[in-house]
Amino acid sequence: MLKPIPKRVLVTGENGQVGQSLKAMAQNYPQFAFYFAGREQFDLASDDTIKLFFSAQVFDAIIHCAAYTAVDKAESEPALANQINHLAVAHIAKLAKEQNALLIYLSTDYVFDGRASQPYDEAAQTCPINLYGQTKRDGERAIIAANPSALIVRTSWVYTKYGHNFVNTMLKLGRQRDELNVIYDQIGTPTYAPDLAAAILVMLNAELVGSSLEGLQSEKRTDKNVSIFHYTNEGVCSWYDFAQAVFEMAAIPCRLQPIESLAYPTPAQRPGYSLLSKARIKQAYGLQIPHWRESLARCLLYQGKRI
Ligand SMILES: NC(=O)c1ccc[n+]([C@@H]2O[C@H](COP(=O)([O-])OP(=O)(O)OC[C@H]3O[C@@H](n4cnc5c(N)ncnc54)[C@H](OP(=O)(O)O)[C@@H]3O)[C@@H](O)[C@H]2O)c1
Repeated sequence: MLKPIPKRVLVTGENGQVGQSLKAMAQNYPQFAFYFAGREQFDLASDDTIKLFFSAQVFDAIIHCAAYTAVDKAESEPALANQINHLAVAHIAKLAKEQNALLIYLSTDYVFDGRASQPYDEAAQTCPINLYGQTKRDGERAIIAANPSALIVRTSWVYTKYGHNFVNTMLKLGRQRDELNVIYDQIGTPTYAPDLAAAILVMLNAELVGSSLEGLQSEKRTDKNVSIFHYTNEGVCSWYDFAQAVFEMAAIPCRLQPIESLAYPTPAQRPGYSLLSKARIKQAYGLQIPHWRESLARCLLYQGKRI
């Protein structure tokens, strides 16, 4: 019997946290031929390079991980953040539709204002309170307008062993200082990028190749609009709790002082409450999601830290 031709899957942001995590798992999915693209292949700031790239290649799916993610810097670079997180997304959504490619777009808890008192579900009213959140919300809206078969996956507090993130910052500062102040009045859930990448690959497989999971197809097919899903690890914590867990697991003796957000002003305001309900993604794709502490332990173990 002839082997089926692998589906062509583009992953943007190949050097980012989620892009690298997807790359590390790609070999487990021989049914897909992955193409990882970074800034060298096309710059999201340039519509011309995006157009040129897609005029030469056709894909069955696009996992759009690249984004302008510098939350504070976005406040002073609104045009660039808007170009990358909104206008380039609109462009890619249109090109994906033309190519009949499934688009999976990563979005953020920062589309919400953080004033809720129970986890946000996918239908909750968006109301970003910073420029980054606004551009990501506008990216979502552009997709909804241009590409009804796309999937939007909102996530929060992403970290991995690579690159700039809260865990690596705490490991570095905790080893340099005796004491550290960390905010305790912003509540959310960390997301280990490899867990998110694994969930995205389950979704991709279910959508492109099909899955025997009961309920998946019926849930998806009844929804004529863009499907929005929330994915984070399980559980809840403040940044202070998160830092404390990092120090405990990595055996760093640095003392932690809980402080309020007001005592640590930043250019971009952050939502006080960022919990996302994951009921929909778990039901639709049969996902079992690890608790954030378990995933943090895996991340630190992977880095060779004592836990
Ligand atoms: N990190 C979080 O806490 C978080 C939370 C919620 C949602 N998200 C969303 O999840 C997705 C993935 O996040 P992440 O943590 O993996 O982000 P990341 O590590 O910051 O990676 C972003 C990637 O985007 C690329 N990029 C930025 N500007 C570009 C441009 N002009 N042209 C081409 N590529 C460009 C970067 O390329 P270079 O490597 O060349 O700079 C980088 O590889 C994003 O959509 C983000 O908005 C992230």
